[in-house]
Amino acid sequence: MTRAILPRHIAFIMDGNGRWAAKRGLPRVKGHERGADAISTIMEELRRLGILEATFYALSSENYERRPAREIRRLLDLLVRYLDSQAETLKRERIKFAVIGRLDPLPAEAIAAIRRASALTAAHERFTFRLAINYGSRREIMDAACALARARASGGQAPERASEPDDLRAFLYDPSMTDPDLLIRTGGQSRLSNFLLWQCSYTELYFTDTLWPSFGKAQLARAIEFYARTTRKFGAVR
Ligand code: FPP
Repeated sequence: MTRAILPRHIAFIMDGNGRWAAKRGLPRVKGHERGADAISTIMEELRRLGILEATFYALSSENYERRPAREIRRLLDLLVRYLDSQAETLKRERIKFAVIGRLDPLPAEAIAAIRRASALTAAHERFTFRLAINYGSRREIMDAACALARARASGGQAPERASEPDDLRAFLYDPSMTDPDLLIRTGGQSRLSNFLLWQCSYTELYFTDTLWPSFGKAQLARAIEFYARTTRKFGAVR
């Protein structure tokens, strides 16, 4: 695999934690715990390969609103423990931590842990590790469109003068985020589930039946080989 055909940014929809746990007669939260371990394994491999950015869908706004409160609480407790346990690695490896999503409704401890990890790593530049938490892409686009219209209005310009589709980028939750080159969804479904709809316009999509906690280095290598075989044209003729 040559460096030139490696994706720069990979996005992950980590599906299948619950099924992984059920197959083993374990509570769902055990699946999420093993899912968090899988994030660490994948992150290490991404850095070894020279990939620069990864975005993981940890909690959709639909999950947040529709799952039992107890499961959400446990997921957020796990998030707090996970971020604190990663502090050393984030520092040592100069990894920048970022979040996309609506954080206001989250419990104070979760917001504090996110702020701690973000502040600790704000100046890092070697790799970006991003989590989507209470994230919904339609909401992000809506929020961005409103912010763009407000900015145009306060600058005395009519909103419709924003004619370049890329003008919206500066108003997305993380304007520094590059569009993913490859999106990987585990767990057997082939859909985007309201994840990065704007950013994935030209992204290669890879779907696998592997459940997220079982997704490791070998499965990642297969996804990257799939990407390397695909010719990206961005709408042009080769
Ligand atoms: C989908 O599996 C997964 C989630 C809703 C949560 C993803 C979270 C993690 C991988 C771990 C927590 C993350 C951090 C950073 C601590 P599912 O529960 O919908 O699985 P199922 O489809 O098999 O029921």
